[in-house]
Amino acid sequence: MCQFSFFFIGSAQLILIGTSVIEKSGCNETVVLPCHVTNLRQKNENAMFVIWKKEGDTIFSYRGGNKKYNVDNSFSSAKFLHPENLTDGDASLVLSSKQAVVGNYSCEVTESNREGELRMELRNGSGSWFLLVERAVIVSLVILLVILCAAQLTFIGLKYEIESQRKVCIIVALVIFAVVAAVGAALFIQDGYTVQNQAGLGLMVIPAVILVPLQYVMFGIVFDSQLQATLALIGLKLLGFIIAVVGFALCVPACPPLHGSVLIAGIAIMAIASLLSLAYVFIMGSRMKDHPRPGKAVEEPLNELQSYVMRI
Ligand SMILES: *[C@@H]1O[C@H](CO)[C@@H](O)[C@H](O)[C@H]1NC(C)=O
Ligand SMILES: *[C@@H]1O[C@H](CO)[C@@H](O)[C@H](O)[C@H]1NC(C)=O
Ligand SMILES: *[C@@H]1O[C@H](CO)[C@@H](O)[C@H](O)[C@H]1NC(C)=O
Ligand SMILES: *[C@@H]1O[C@H](CO)[C@@H](O)[C@H](O)[C@H]1NC(C)=O
Repeated sequence: MCQFSFFFIGSAQLILIGTSVIEKSGCNETVVLPCHVTNLRQKNENAMFVIWKKEGDTIFSYRGGNKKYNVDNSFSSAKFLHPENLTDGDASLVLSSKQAVVGNYSCEVTESNREGELRMELRNGSGSWFLLVERAVIVSLVILLVILCAAQLTFIGLKYEIESQRKVCIIVALVIFAVVAAVGAALFIQDGYTVQNQAGLGLMVIPAVILVPLQYVMFGIVFDSQLQATLALIGLKLLGFIIAVVGFALCVPACPPLHGSVLIAGIAIMAIASLLSLAYVFIMGSRMKDHPRPGKAVEEPLNELQSYVMRI
């Protein structure tokens, strides 16, 4: 009998501590569910058994005796946060934010014949990388960039002779940018703060550099030499690109992104430069009905003047 009561004292509960309410935000790539045992006795993995459940269903278990993990398919990212410290009582779980659906979780630890349980609720918290409206604005601006560039190319193509090789090069460059940016937009528009979201934004912003030389080539078709106005428009586009890249570099490591407005301003400047370029080509192109090459119209008297000066 005496031994029997001793047995009951010996089988006292394990004490588990953690946080009863945990919030995950759009900025969390991973979610940690804390669970610490404070009164382990043997500190021997062989005697330990850990089960994590979500609303009664086992999502993760570890049997120290045979070092065997069992992980549910829909929680495949789940693992111990510090597997090396399990014998110190750290049974905290880490899983990807995507798989960590909100709900009630429990951590159950057994050491030989002693056991304990801890319950916690995982909730949605506030905070995300870019707000939905910011993501929509960024993607719309990039689409606008492609449309304005295509419109300019179409107008020039209708009005001026373009060497077919040059035409193919311009079209291929624009199509490549459009495809890469579309892939980027598909990755970026999704909720979350993952490598995919970051790469998606990069695929929309960085390849936009191609629009700067493209603008130069398109002006080159309309005007024989680059005029001050065309150089200013190309410069504006380049400035917008540089601002966008700086904004991108500031936004990638920060969640929430404190400098999202820099990135948006950069892309908006590029779009404005594209719009002005389209307007410039349209107005100059329409005005020069009798002189199809406005660049030449300026150049020819200059050349005459030059040869006149040389003769003297
Ligand atoms: C989410 O990320 C924040 C900041 O990095 C961190 O403090 C918090 O513990 C994370 N939340 C969860 C549930 O892991
Ligand atoms: C693991 O346990 C060791 C020794 O108790 C401690 O020094 C270390 O900080 C722990 N590691 C973590 C990641 O908690
Ligand atoms: C989790 O438990 C709390 C009470 O402990 C309850 O209010 C809540 O609805 C539960 N959540 C889910 C998703 O079951
Ligand atoms: C929590 O947020 C996720 C993603 O943002 C959403 O799919 C889910 O419906 C939200 N759950 C609750 C209970 O608000």
